Amino acid sequence: MQKRWFLTMVAVISVLGTLAFVRANASADEALALQEFAQEGEFQGQSIAFPHNTHAGEYQIDCQYCHFSVERSKSAGMPPVASCMGCHTFVEGQQNPEEVAKLREYWDARQPIPWSRVYKVADHVYFPHMRHVSAGVDCATCHGNVEEIGVIERLNQPLTMGWCLSCHIDMGASIDCTVCHY
Ligand code: HEC
Ligand code: HEC
Ligand code: HEC
Ligand code: HEC
Ligand code: HEC
Repeated sequence: MQKRWFLTMVAVISVLGTLAFVRANASADEALALQEFAQEGEFQGQSIAFPHNTHAGEYQIDCQYCHFSVERSKSAGMPPVASCMGCHTFVEGQQNPEEVAKLREYWDARQPIPWSRVYKVADHVYFPHMRHVSAGVDCATCHGNVEEIGVIERLNQPLTMGWCLSCHIDMGASIDCTVCHY
């Protein structure tokens, strides 16, 4: 696998000479990709219709209360069920009590909630959240205004290499192949 990846790298090393081209085409590329759902065919809906607008918008809960590792780790982190229950032991939900009931079932069964992923880069790509957060890139740049979104179902940005590179060029971050590829 490692070797195959290396050979692919060599085959496309010509990319180096065409970075300008990649950049010029990034926006057309992105417009196309944005029309599609994340991992088309894979997103099966969420186990629980978790509304970001209610939590992060209306009740202004900090993103990092739930995505606790976003400043210090590669992964943003997903909240354990216990952190939901701090409130939902009491809060039954006025609009969608059946969704809160599902949450309580996972809690009673001591099961983690199997969230479906929307934002996911390919396995050979390394994306470190902490580096972006510490460089001052806002969550919304990549994820949109999450505090206004009900259930997150689609990407705000296409996660193509062109998208990564064009921002790295703009912000003077590294475009060395090995920083993003294992
Ligand atoms: C700090 C308190 C708090 C935490 C933590 C919290 N919630 Fe909520 N949640 C609320 C409040 C308040 C509402 C709005 C209830 C209402 O309007 O009746 C709500 C609404 C909901 C709803 C929609 C129900 C409705 O009728 O609006 C779901 C589903 C939900 N929460 C799931 C979760 C999950 C899953 C977690 C953990 C990842 C979580 N909540 C963490 C306070 C919290
Ligand atoms: C009360 C807890 C809570 C808060 C506060 C919260 N989130 Fe989330 N977030 C979740 C849960 C639970 C999921 C998984 C369900 C889903 O994808 O909708 C999630 C999923 C996401 C995802 C999609 C991950 C994926 O690839 O599937 C993004 C992006 C995200 N949150 C960003 C944010 C941002 C930005 C904020 C602040 C504006 C925020 N979240 C605030 C609990 C929270
Ligand atoms: C520069 C773009 C960018 C910024 C800024 C960013 N994210 Fe992400 N986020 C991504 C990408 C790309 C993924 C997919 C990562 C992967 O597959 O490894 C992702 C995945 C996630 C996930 C899914 C779980 C995970 O860790 O993979 C959550 C939750 C999330 N981001 C929340 C946030 C929050 C909260 C912020 C702000 C504090 C934020 N992100 C800032 C691009 C970004
Ligand atoms: C909106 C701008 C933006 C986007 C989009 C973006 N990045 Fe970055 N990236 C940055 C900035 C700024 C840094 C911080 C550079 C620093 O710390 O000096 C960074 C740093 C990194 C680093 C650490 C580089 C190093 O020198 O060690 C990696 C790896 C990385 N990004 C991967 C990605 C990947 C993969 C994507 C696309 C999925 C992506 N980035 C999308 C702005 C962006
Ligand atoms: C800033 C991060 C970043 C840098 C730097 C970067 N790439 Fe990528 N690359 C990505 C992302 C993200 C993808 C996945 C795109 C997708 O899934 O659509 C990707 C995909 C690829 C693919 C396609 C693999 C496939 O699955 O089809 C190849 C080949 C590749 N990159 C080679 C390179 C080479 C060679 C360099 C150095 C000139 C480089 N990359 C630099 C982020 C980066």
